[in-house]
Amino acid sequence: MDERIIDTKIRVCSYNELGEDEKKLVEMAKDATSRAYVPYSDFHVGAALLLENGEIITGANQENASFPAGTCAERSAIFYAAAQYPGVRFVRLAIAAWQKGDFVEEPVSPCGVCRQAILEYEKLGGSPIDVLLCGRDVVYRIDGIRALLPLSFEEF
Ligand code: THU
Repeated sequence: MDERIIDTKIRVCSYNELGEDEKKLVEMAKDATSRAYVPYSDFHVGAALLLENGEIITGANQENASFPAGTCAERSAIFYAAAQYPGVRFVRLAIAAWQKGDFVEEPVSPCGVCRQAILEYEKLGGSPIDVLLCGRDVVYRIDGIRALLPLSFEEF
């Protein structure tokens, strides 16, 4: 039997260690949490996506009485960006969450469906989409979504 270990490198930073562009994206993701519509979970997620053309698109989770119809903050941002700017590469995505009066302490991580959706645009763009997972004081920096989706499903 063969055994393989898949490593994931996460750089753990304080907000002050981020570059100016990264700080701006984090702030925009945090701000986007205020636009979540979450009557069922009361868990407010915000995402901010930097495109190669310099545009920053934000998204927030939108829930629905028919639960599966709701969508995550990340997908609301990436699908909007792809629909508005087809063919423009995604560079970096920041994700933040707010619950019970404050930003969550532990960095929030995208769900499996969002990881798969982000991967598709990473492949289309031909270069890694960097991810910033924001906690209250700490930010996880991840170089490319593949680090969060080992053994991903790949049809093309
Ligand atoms: N949610 C996101 O928006 N992004 C994630 O990465 C994880 C979960 C949303 C879905 C739902 O509206 C709420 O958070 C609670 O699961």
